[in-house]
Amino acid sequence: MSNKTDLSTHFHTRIDLPAETRAAMGMILNERLADYLDLERQAKQAHWNVRGARFQQLHELFDATAGLAVGWSDELAERAGQLGVPAEGTLPVIAERSRLSKAPLMVDHADEWVHVVAEALASCANAARANIEEASDADDAITADLLTRITSETDKQLWFVESHLEPEPK
Ligand SMILES: [Fe+2]
Repeated sequence: MSNKTDLSTHFHTRIDLPAETRAAMGMILNERLADYLDLERQAKQAHWNVRGARFQQLHELFDATAGLAVGWSDELAERAGQLGVPAEGTLPVIAERSRLSKAPLMVDHADEWVHVVAEALASCANAARANIEEASDADDAITADLLTRITSETDKQLWFVESHLEPEPK
């Protein structure tokens, strides 16, 4: 039993990408997995604790965000698995590996929850976006495609969330 794997290619696969490529992609996918699982937790924290005149709208928006994050996490974890790399999604690993800002337990105004969830979405999307080229350069078109699609969907959800805030001067 191990609390943490070394994320080398642990499982056998017939996929013909080099082992080093699969290990590198597996690391990226696990990093993004931690981000997206953290996003799910942060969105639920906002879902449970938001209050105010826009309660229903924001309560549902944050729950939808959490639900999407579960789906994205699952796809990232399963792509790692396809490449022969273990997926690591336990809470201590998420806490150590996630690049998201630490979410507050409570805020004073509903808008602050919108900011928290928008920041978390943006962190996830921007990190995934930065990895697309790396996956392309490694000739792993499938991981590049997955990251592209997940980034695209995260950008869209970020737009939904950001649009609940008054436009800021550019
Ligand atoms: Fe709920």
